Amino acid sequence: MPIEEGKDSNQRTQSRAFPLKIIKFILIFLAFGIGFSLLSMYMIRYSGFQNIVSTARSGFQPCYEEPDGLNRWVKPPLRLTHTMSDPELLWRASIVPQVKNYPFKRVPKIAFMFLTRGPLPLSPIWERFLKGHEGLYSIYIHSLPSYRAEFPPTSPFYQRQIPSQVAEWGEMSMCDAERRLLANALLDISNEWFILLSESCIPLFNFSIIYKYIKKSRYSFIGAFDDPSPYGRGRYNLNMAPEINISQWRKGSQWFEVDRRLAIYIIKDTLYYPKFKNFCRPGCYVDEHYFPTMLTIEASHLVANRSLTWVDWSRGGAHPATFGRGDINEAFMKRITEGHSCLYNNQPSTLCFLFARKFAPNTLEPLLQFVQYE
Ligand SMILES: *[C@@H]1O[C@H](CO)[C@@H](O)[C@H](O)[C@H]1NC(C)=O
Ligand SMILES: *[C@@H]1O[C@H](CO)[C@@H](O)[C@H](O)[C@H]1NC(C)=O
Ligand SMILES: *[C@@H]1O[C@H](CO)[C@@H](O)[C@H](O)[C@H]1NC(C)=O
Repeated sequence: MPIEEGKDSNQRTQSRAFPLKIIKFILIFLAFGIGFSLLSMYMIRYSGFQNIVSTARSGFQPCYEEPDGLNRWVKPPLRLTHTMSDPELLWRASIVPQVKNYPFKRVPKIAFMFLTRGPLPLSPIWERFLKGHEGLYSIYIHSLPSYRAEFPPTSPFYQRQIPSQVAEWGEMSMCDAERRLLANALLDISNEWFILLSESCIPLFNFSIIYKYIKKSRYSFIGAFDDPSPYGRGRYNLNMAPEINISQWRKGSQWFEVDRRLAIYIIKDTLYYPKFKNFCRPGCYVDEHYFPTMLTIEASHLVANRSLTWVDWSRGGAHPATFGRGDINEAFMKRITEGHSCLYNNQPSTLCFLFARKFAPNTLEPLLQFVQYE
């Protein structure tokens, strides 16, 4: 009996001590729980704040209601900076939807891609040209990696520099830069047309005319012609066969306009790239041959074989004429915009050029008087 009693009392003290332990446990859990939720609330608020800051900077509206909805695939990236290497970027940009109908309202945009060394002295012209057409275009700038563009947040050029590398005229690094521009612009699913421009380019007509001309065209505007001279076929190298035949060898100005399909052809290419890299060495000017030749072989039915960018070779020499302040007058502007003939959708047309180069920085002031873009 005493043993039983002892056991009993032991049990009784245990059952009295137990609730206390449970209460302690619950309190500790509660403290943890509250601490945790406070921390996560803080984190959400903090990252939400970050989003708002970057939204305000880039002008895009992220969708809070459905963070994992379709929007993450449809909205352009918030920032153009990224840490992808070129092979990573090209791979990412080559991802193509297989369902042809977009399950959202897609307004096709023109990607204006500026291949520059540093500043864009004619940017006020472009700003005037683009004004009021937000949502129909995107801007991308590839410059020397050391160059930092300083545009105010109100400018369409603000924070539009892509991660860049040094590009040398006539060398493969120039084509690499162009592919880099295309790949970055392809990350925005709404970009449909891709136009390569330089800092000395200007638009010749208002945005509506240019947008319609490009949108209604059955072909992409890339210069491609068969030049029998030493500066054309003379640059062909037999080591490029069998992928590239001399009869397929083309030449054209590097200032192209391509649609999304051709842009993807260009960035995904691994067949022609090594041929040009290895056998179109300085003296060959790879940026005049790679894309025209490749697209002639792969998609000749999609290219207009002419460029949209007017340039003046009439002065002779290795480089086209650069125009200065004294050249800009009404007669000159007429000479650029009128009196041409070409084919547009297989029909004769006098509207052949939408852009022109090369304009020196000091043409800005007189040009602003002549071009209204209204
Ligand atoms: C390449 O050129 C050779 C003759 O030079 C010709 O027989 C062959 O058909 C051409 N190939 C292509 C794909 O055009
Ligand atoms: C462009 O040239 C290619 C031959 O190089 C030709 O097949 C194609 O039809 C031409 N494009 C147009 C629009 O005429
Ligand atoms: C663009 O220019 C054309 C021809 O000059 C004109 O008819 C049209 O109204 C202009 N569009 C805008 C939006 O200014």
